[in-house]
Amino acid sequence: MPTESHSALYARIVDDLAEHGWSIQPLFAPEGLTAELADECRLRAERGALAPAGVGRGNALAVREAVRGDSIEWLEAGQSEACDQYLALLDGLRQAINQGLYLGLEDYESHFALYPPGAFYQKHLDRFRDDDRRTVSAVLYLNEGWQDEQGGALRLYLKNGEVRDVPPRAGCLVVFLSADLPHEVLPATRERLSLTGWFRRRGDGPL
Ligand code: OGA
Ligand code: MN
Repeated sequence: MPTESHSALYARIVDDLAEHGWSIQPLFAPEGLTAELADECRLRAERGALAPAGVGRGNALAVREAVRGDSIEWLEAGQSEACDQYLALLDGLRQAINQGLYLGLEDYESHFALYPPGAFYQKHLDRFRDDDRRTVSAVLYLNEGWQDEQGGALRLYLKNGEVRDVPPRAGCLVVFLSADLPHEVLPATRERLSLTGWFRRRGDGPL
């Protein structure tokens, strides 16, 4: 559940989003929760529950390993204690963003993602051309003991022309405006786990 210290984190993320359109919080999720989520991701992978991720949506959805090489499984409430705790933390963040920035975020959809060594996700924006509901992206990393030289950074192309690489270290949450920030996932020399998701607004386009 969100704690007192989470209100401070939420406030920092809201300020960062207002000022820059992105925020990096190296210690967002408690260590124990991150470890449980990592175990769950690996268990889901062992069970064969993770499927190669697609590109695009609806009829245009296709698996293209030359674009992205991760495998994913969507999260649903009630699947595990750890997932529910995480969803509660992110719902607290959703409310804080709505209060601070009036974005009218309605829900959060997210999936576990596993990138095998060598897999990547080419530079892209998170908003679909035919669906503008995804408004704020939020990615939590689950990789204990990650070393910079293992690669696998999230590369953010910031508005001021700066490029910033974020190593996918356990407990770190990266939040950014989905329509504004091109980004990519660089290949790594070890397996790379994350929980990737999007806060969505009510859509007014075709669904
Ligand atoms: C995505 C994505 C970033 C990451 O799934 O759209 O950009 O660091 N993921 O895993
Ligand atoms: Mn993305």
